[in-house]
Amino acid sequence: MLKLPKVIGHRGAKGYAPENTLESIRTAADMGVEWVELDVKLTRDGVPVIFHDEDLARVTNGSGLMAETDYDDIKELDAGSWYGESFLGAKIPTLEEAVDVLIENDMGLNLEIKPCPGREEETASVALDVMSQIWDDHDRILISSFKLISLEAAQNLANDWARGLLFEEDIPDDWPKLAQHLEVSTLNVNGNSLKKSECEYLLEAELPLLAYTINDPMRARELQRWGIDSIFSDVPDLIMENLLESH
Ligand code: G3P
Ligand code: MG
Repeated sequence: MLKLPKVIGHRGAKGYAPENTLESIRTAADMGVEWVELDVKLTRDGVPVIFHDEDLARVTNGSGLMAETDYDDIKELDAGSWYGESFLGAKIPTLEEAVDVLIENDMGLNLEIKPCPGREEETASVALDVMSQIWDDHDRILISSFKLISLEAAQNLANDWARGLLFEEDIPDDWPKLAQHLEVSTLNVNGNSLKKSECEYLLEAELPLLAYTINDPMRARELQRWGIDSIFSDVPDLIMENLLESH
């Protein structure tokens, strides 16, 4: 039975440390954050790594595309100094390295499958294969994706792990069908653009509703009042401190 926390650290604790690094996971752990969300994609040679963008340039000292770079080169990159000198030397972690830190810190994980274009199925399949060998806590793992092919692959490969259907700002009209077809356990929405009427409609599915990425405590409280179950935040400590107690 999935045990979601009220607040999930986004890309670790992106507001305080370079996103999707071990340092970011540890920063979240030190704040008492119970779960983090991390993005997984494949290097050119198929190693699952924790990384958000297609391009390496924004958050590393490298350049070019993740999809065109082998792991041997990825592991040499600095993914910390762009954020601040104190993070110099932070690396792009493999999925396995990230999971080790989560286990060390007794944390749950929302693993977002973030495939490079054309690798939707492969990314889910490689990531789930790795996960199935190192993770056995079914209550504290949620596999999510914007990509239906990745969710279908997860459904075929690890049906007993909870899946979350991610929506962009526009919620597709056929979402009830998609949710049913993919047998998802959660719906994950953009909490910044979400309207109250959309929230009410989505709640009719009677599934936990998760909202990304909320850094304003007042908006977090409003979403809680509307019935949102969990909030992704870059500043999870701030959101945790300001949650409504009655929800
Ligand atoms: O999974 C929630 C959120 O991470 C989705 O958007 O672009 O930050 O991966 P993005
Ligand atoms: Mg994400």
